[in-house]
Amino acid sequence: MSNKVRTAVVGLRMGLAHAKAYAAVDNAELTHVVDLDAELAEQVAGELGCAHTTDWESILDEVDAISFATPHHLHHSQALKAIRAGKHVLMEKPLANSEAECQELISAAQEHDVRLMIAYVVRYLPAIRQLKALLDSGEYGTPISIQGWVRAHLEPRPPDSWFSRRATLGGGVLFSHGCHYIDILLYLFGDPTQVAHVGTRNGTEWLEGEGTSHAILRFPNGVIGSLMSSWGIVAPRSPARYQIHTTTGVLQLNNDMWTIEWTTPDGETEVLHSRPEDARPNVQYEVEHFLASIESGQSPETDGVEALRSHRAIWDMYAGDDLNAGGVR
Ligand SMILES: NC(=O)c1ccc[n+]([C@@H]2O[C@H](COP(=O)([O-])OP(=O)(O)OC[C@H]3O[C@@H](n4cnc5c(N)ncnc54)[C@H](O)[C@@H]3O)[C@@H](O)[C@H]2O)c1
Repeated sequence: MSNKVRTAVVGLRMGLAHAKAYAAVDNAELTHVVDLDAELAEQVAGELGCAHTTDWESILDEVDAISFATPHHLHHSQALKAIRAGKHVLMEKPLANSEAECQELISAAQEHDVRLMIAYVVRYLPAIRQLKALLDSGEYGTPISIQGWVRAHLEPRPPDSWFSRRATLGGGVLFSHGCHYIDILLYLFGDPTQVAHVGTRNGTEWLEGEGTSHAILRFPNGVIGSLMSSWGIVAPRSPARYQIHTTTGVLQLNNDMWTIEWTTPDGETEVLHSRPEDARPNVQYEVEHFLASIESGQSPETDGVEALRSHRAIWDMYAGDDLNAGGVR
């Protein structure tokens, strides 16, 4: 009998990257791809050599683990059903749209002894691991401030789309996309002691929540941070993904998400990390971690409890923001 983890992917837009990753690794078998769009499911199944269906609940007996890359308001009910059926779950971010829903998933995963992981793809990128190691080494001075930028320019979605509405998306760009980068701030510096947020709909009027967001955080070690996230900015690039100013220079992670540069006050720049020859697609790193957690029985690094840390920071920010006050959590 094969030891491969039998996997399925539900939702084949973002989920296509999950399906390709399962198909590429040796310790998984991609048995099914699933989408309500039957044509899309058939096309992806043909490409990757697996079965397809529009009804994920009908294939539960044939899989050990499921990736969900579906609209946010469906995450809670889908994950709960899969967990109760004894399946390991890799859930695209966010884990769910409220604290109570996340808590229910965390308890269910414990009760049914299955692995529950949020697909925080950025967390598993080699450059992020390296950035943390560089900071923790103490060789690059004491960090003072971190700034992050993540931007895209999205085409307007229809007003009745799940993506346009705050209740189904769970917020705006900060909750939906900035959450990856808030997670990294907490990964590097711990839980914030103070947070604040302002957002605007200028340039993204099609979106009910904020389409451009400025978040600021204070960390226990005195470091202060800010993140700008946007789906409405037309400029082709941001200054970098992160810049970390320390007492002796600045560490910068470039927008390619591979290159880390160290610049000293005299202007000398050294490249500390760059894209290796054998780089794998981004989602493959997280999928490898998920499969390793299933094999070892250990909780994945970005399990439900870990997901809640970044979600809570964002909910706390929203609570103090005029545009979102009285919103989610
Ligand atoms: N990590 C990233 O960078 C990243 C990028 C984009 C999206 N995402 C996440 O991926 C998830 C999906 O986002 P998207 O942009 O692909 O959304 P989307 O609306 O473009 O696509 C969702 C897909 O899921 C399918 N679907 C919906 N309900 C289904 C069901 N019950 N059964 C089977 N299929 C179903 C739809 O037909 C559609 O093809 C979200 O959680 C989103 O936040 C992550």
